[in-house]
Formats: sequence, C-alpha cells, structure tokens
Amino acid sequence: MRLKPIDSPELIALVAGWLSQKENSQWLDFGDGRQTLTPEWLKIMTQRDGHLLRVFTRDEDDTPIGLVALSEINRHFQTARIWVVVGDKSFLSRGYGTRATAAMLTVAFRDLGLHSVNTWIVEGNPSLRMAPRLHFTLVGRQRQCHYIDGRSYDRFWFDILASEHKES
Ligand SMILES: CC(C)(COP(=O)(O)OP(=O)(O)OC[C@H]1O[C@@H](n2cnc3c(N)ncnc32)[C@H](O)[C@@H]1OP(=O)(O)O)[C@@H](O)C(=O)NCCC(=O)NCCS
Repeated sequence: MRLKPIDSPELIALVAGWLSQKENSQWLDFGDGRQTLTPEWLKIMTQRDGHLLRVFTRDEDDTPIGLVALSEINRHFQTARIWVVVGDKSFLSRGYGTRATAAMLTVAFRDLGLHSVNTWIVEGNPSLRMAPRLHFTLVGRQRQCHYIDGRSYDRFWFDILASEHKES
C-alpha cells in the first residue's frame, strides 16, 4: 500500500466519484454541512494549505482504492483532522483503512511535524473499531449533531499525539 498525491484530472474524477456515493458521504462533512464534493471543489482542496489529500493503492500495484486526508491543518498549533474512505468496496475489511490512516499519521507527525491529530466518527460507523487499534484516545461525545436520513446521531471525538503513534 502506498500513498500518492491526487495529481491528475482522472484521479480527481475517481475520488470525487467515491465521495459522492451515499455509503461514504453520509458519514462525512466538508464544512457547512456539505457532504459531497464536486471535482472542482476537490481540486481546490488539493491546492489549499489546510488540506493534505492522498489516495492509497492496493498492495499488488499502483491502483488507487481509497482516500485518506488531513484537513484543518494548523501549523501554529500543530494540529489536524484525519479522515479516510475506502473507495473500491471490494477492498473493505482487509486492513487498508487502518493501514492508510497509520501511514497518513506518519506523514502528519514525521513529515509535517504536527503534534496532535483528531477525528470524529459517527456512532454506528465501522471505523469506530479502527480508532483504538490506531491508539487514538476517546476525548468526547458530541450528541445529536449529525443527520443521516433525517435522524440525528452522535459523533465520537478522538485524538492521538505524536508520541502515541506507532509507525508500521
Ligand atoms: C471506515 C472505513 C474507512 C474502514 O475501512 P476498512 O479498510 O474496511 O477498515 P479495516 O479493514 O482497516 O478494518 C476493518 C476490519 O478489517 C479487519 N482486518 C482484516 N485484515 C486486517 C489487517 N491486515 N489489518 C488491520 N485490520 C484488518 C479488522 O480487524 C477490522 O475488523 P473490526 O473493525 O471488525 O475489528 C470504510 O468502511 C469506509 O470507507 N467507510 C465509508 C467512509 C467512512 O465512514 N469513513 C470514516 C469517516 S472518518
């Protein structure tokens, strides 16, 4: 598995396609409640300082199968938020989400010099089980703040410090 920049219109279209699928978008929030990203918005995100977007590949070759991202990168406070999507669903539950997140945490702590990375996960999301595996700490529960099909759900907030991340 490798992380690669989103550096072509084809990759942007592929990733925007993943993010537009309800099975992914329902768990996400790109600000102001926006849950899908057009290819144009995605391109802007790839150029902004506050975001670092990477596709991850399958082990066999360079075929991209998902997206892992840092958002709200704050170099002054050395913080960021991390999120991940397995785009090609035939690769679910094979460890890719966990490994891609670990690889991006290494980028955050080792390459960007960040100190603390956070994330939120909606109740019922399978990635809730990924968080402890990656040594995140549960720091709080934000109640009834995320809507799926008109029903409210809680978000669980986690963080991890540079010293707690185990590089694989
Ligand atoms: C959440 C999501 C990223 C998880 O991705 P994934 O690749 O299926 O996750 P993993 O394979 O790493 O972990 C899932 C299971 O695979 C198992 N697994 C199999 N092989 C594994 C390996 N080599 N290493 C780690 N876990 C492995 C894990 O034990 C885990 O089981 P468990 O959670 O029941 O304990 C994916 O479901 C997704 O894209 N969801 C939609 C978007 C989303 O909700 N993103 C999260 C918002 S931040």
